[in-house]
Amino acid sequence: MREAARAEDLLEWYDRHARDLPWRIGPRARAAGVRPDPYRVWLSEIMLQQTTVPAVKPYFEAFTARWPTVSDLAAAEDADVMAAWAGLGYYARARNLLKCARVVASEHGGVFPDSQEALLQLPGVGPYTAGAVAAIAYDLPATVVDGNVERVMARLHDEHTPLPDAKPVLTGYAAALTPDERPGCYAQAVMDLGATICTPRNPACGLCPWRPSCAAWDAGTAAELPKKVPK
Ligand code: ADE
Repeated sequence: MREAARAEDLLEWYDRHARDLPWRIGPRARAAGVRPDPYRVWLSEIMLQQTTVPAVKPYFEAFTARWPTVSDLAAAEDADVMAAWAGLGYYARARNLLKCARVVASEHGGVFPDSQEALLQLPGVGPYTAGAVAAIAYDLPATVVDGNVERVMARLHDEHTPLPDAKPVLTGYAAALTPDERPGCYAQAVMDLGATICTPRNPACGLCPWRPSCAAWDAGTAAELPKKVPK
């Protein structure tokens, strides 16, 4: 019950503070029944894996203008896609991007599968991306855990076990919080909380909707979490 109340508090905050991003359908439009195109969700999540939001925006706009659907991307020349990706780095992502687009076009009729299990079978799609597409595009209660979410969970529970050992327990915390109502908004809300409030340094705890139940806030340890095993 406590977790349900927390999820509701976060969704209320998201309704007021959601970031306006080119791949996102905002909370108002979602409430009116608009759903994001799974192709755009997938493309944005692949681009955002090792790249910041401001750096991704112009690439996302360029890709979706030139290849508006996954079938358009699947039909592109390899060299054109690699050239369009230039500057984003981590070029294995671009090669997998094309592979995945071609599998979706040829084996799924140009429609991204709507279950986490089926999404996981696609090239370059791991648990994070499968969860993000399932939640954001299809509104399924998938648990989406990236570095931002790990940091938020470590703080909320004042978890001092260092990463990567803490991963399973932090994933468990994240799963317990994932609501059945509005899971797509919820997934994006945790991302926004981690990006704008529960930041790695100088977290803005004064503005956080979860501060009243945050264990790290109570302990005064937010800024030192999550702990990491030195590399
Ligand atoms: N980082 C990873 N996925 C994201 C998303 N969908 N929106 C904003 N930041 C993100």
